[in-house]
Amino acid sequence: MKLAKRVERVSPSLTLAITAKAKKLRSEGVDIVSFAAGEPDFDTPSHIKGAAMAAIKEGFTKYTPASGMLELKEAVSKKLECENGLVYPPPSISISCGAKHSLYNIFQAICQEGDEVIIPSPYWLSYPEMVKLAGATPVFVQAHEENGFRVNIDDLKKALTKNTKALILNSPSNPTGSIYGDGDLKEIADLAVSKGIAVVSDEIYEKIIYDGQKHTSIASLGNKIKDISIVVNGVSKSYSMTGWRIGYIAAPSDVIVAINKIQSHSTSNPASISQKAALEAITGDQTSVKDMVKEFSIRRDLITGGLSKIKGFKVFKPQGAFYVFCNITGTKIDSLTLTNRLLDEASVAVIPGRPFGSDSHIRLSFANSSSEIKKGLDRIGKWVKEKL
Ligand SMILES: Cc1ncc(COP(=O)(O)O)c(C=O)c1O
Repeated sequence: MKLAKRVERVSPSLTLAITAKAKKLRSEGVDIVSFAAGEPDFDTPSHIKGAAMAAIKEGFTKYTPASGMLELKEAVSKKLECENGLVYPPPSISISCGAKHSLYNIFQAICQEGDEVIIPSPYWLSYPEMVKLAGATPVFVQAHEENGFRVNIDDLKKALTKNTKALILNSPSNPTGSIYGDGDLKEIADLAVSKGIAVVSDEIYEKIIYDGQKHTSIASLGNKIKDISIVVNGVSKSYSMTGWRIGYIAAPSDVIVAINKIQSHSTSNPASISQKAALEAITGDQTSVKDMVKEFSIRRDLITGGLSKIKGFKVFKPQGAFYVFCNITGTKIDSLTLTNRLLDEASVAVIPGRPFGSDSHIRLSFANSSSEIKKGLDRIGKWVKEKL
């Protein structure tokens, strides 16, 4: 069958190929240590599961409004005000089937042919493909490792053209774990306001931050930047709820009206039961978040300490999220080859940096137990000593 041109523009997933290979080896009985996970390894907290079970028992199993139920929008609105200093009334909020869906809807709503969207590189691998699916063109701006993987304002300025429609910010970042401080955000906000460029701020890892750092939403830096910002967040990472598929968007109401129109003719509402669970996640006991971040923090030290002792590996210590984006220039092997060799020869699964915009890095997730992390580090260290 002849397929649509827009699909041809989308790249196939390199990470899927590597994780499928790791899965196959595991099913054949090979003991694989995996640093590939893109989700917390903790169970969804029981009070959240309880809310979902109560929803089922009570028969809360029908359609809700397509853009999500009012009670959940009210909870998100309160959360944004209390935690982020952002005032968005419920009509400025849309609930979607995960933050990925939120982002997809946003680019469908704001982009058209000829538009350019600036993406700091390294980037989460779905951004460019979503931008292309909306008919626009991704424009990459290097965020240098020496600058903590934060994009430099002069480099951003150089990338602007008359077609620049939006800029994507992801802090804390997947894959680097870098965080933008208030000073950087202010510079970016001033630039966006002066040029009238929309800022899509993906804050899905906001709660997973270390060393007492603080997360700032760029939209909280004044009314002018708030008017051109679109904030994305969700419950997937903070509450170990990746499978429940609840994300949300806060934006000026005209953008939300457009997004809701798209959602009403595509997915309709996110699962009613998941919405009840997300409501409990956002309004209920937050102890599980603190416990998870504490455990991630211990593992972060373990993995960065171990990797930095391995010849050819240079570590950037992540300030947030649960990934280490490790520089492998010293191995003189590209990321895809190294990933395949580690899997075949050391039974360790990592993710190549190439689909994130850097062939000189690999991404290792520490959403795995400390004992598995230690085992994996031993295997990599031994392999490097023997083979490189
Ligand atoms: C940076 C970033 N944004 C968005 C998402 C999507 O999250 P969700 O599972 O809520 O769709 C992910 C998931 O990996 C992510 O890493």
